[in-house]
Amino acid sequence: MEATQESQNRWKHKDLLGIEPLEAAEIRMILEAAKSFAEISRRPIKKVPILRGRTIINLFYEPSTRTRSSFEIAEKRLSADTLNFSSSGSAMSKGETLLDTARNLEAMSPDMIVVRHRSPGTAKFLADRLRPAVINAGDGAHEHPTQALLDAFTILQKKDRIENLRIVIVGDILNSRVVRSNLFLLNKLGAKVTLVGPPTMMPKEVERLGARVSWNLDEALEGCDVIMMLRIQKERQSAAGFPSHREYFRLFGLTQERVRRAQEDVIIMHPGPMNRGVEIATEVADGPLSVILEQVTNGIAVRMAILYLLAGGSASEITT
Ligand code: NCD
Repeated sequence: MEATQESQNRWKHKDLLGIEPLEAAEIRMILEAAKSFAEISRRPIKKVPILRGRTIINLFYEPSTRTRSSFEIAEKRLSADTLNFSSSGSAMSKGETLLDTARNLEAMSPDMIVVRHRSPGTAKFLADRLRPAVINAGDGAHEHPTQALLDAFTILQKKDRIENLRIVIVGDILNSRVVRSNLFLLNKLGAKVTLVGPPTMMPKEVERLGARVSWNLDEALEGCDVIMMLRIQKERQSAAGFPSHREYFRLFGLTQERVRRAQEDVIIMHPGPMNRGVEIATEVADGPLSVILEQVTNGIAVRMAILYLLAGGSASEITT
């Protein structure tokens, strides 16, 4: 009996590749563990010896500000040794293949590899071939699991629940890995999600994603609990998806006036980086309902929890 309970408190996968393969209980395990780690970042000495002696490589083939620094800080606060690898200034720019680079890094005996790459499936490709645990920090337009987890942590912190919340996600649905991971997570935890965006930025069979779809932002915002804005993914658009930024803002930009249609205590989220005046008005981004910077703060605790669980830690005995 005890052994069964104990195994329920441990991570049973080698890697974290996406939200789609996870069970609701596994998502809850990470979110619960993250609560214990959130407190460490409020201490004057923000370091615990949990991953002392472990080596983590951060392998970033795409630009990143938040995700990369958040992983690095999470690793350091757990006392791991870290190595940052980016595509510029390394043999990657001399034509070495991804797998060759990764095999060479594996030969240096890291315990975990955090990877971001423009191609969907990269994290799984490496996870299937390498011994260390692989964490997906964003693979093309496929998944960005740690972002969805930190978003869920932030929603829980503000709303105490996810089940039955009315969540509106607005923007470039087609090219966003953030929305895919969020949809998997929010559906598994029972939220009611509406997706809003121009038809050119909606996947063809969008209904299959398990969300309501609306083309009218004003109507979709009526009475909602959470608004999640997305950046227009210029780097992933094959053709221009919209005539002009002004036109986009007029139809899909989040303004103060639009926010008034939502619940009074609605929270406003954005994964960053923001295009102010394109998808969100500055006074909304910086206003009292915005939790955008809290998402960033929470990202560290959530990533600490993931690193801890992947390293074999038990969710029931976190002593920080
Ligand atoms: C997102 C990403 O890179 O997928 N940013 C992030 O990780 N915070 C979203 C984006 O780029 O728009």
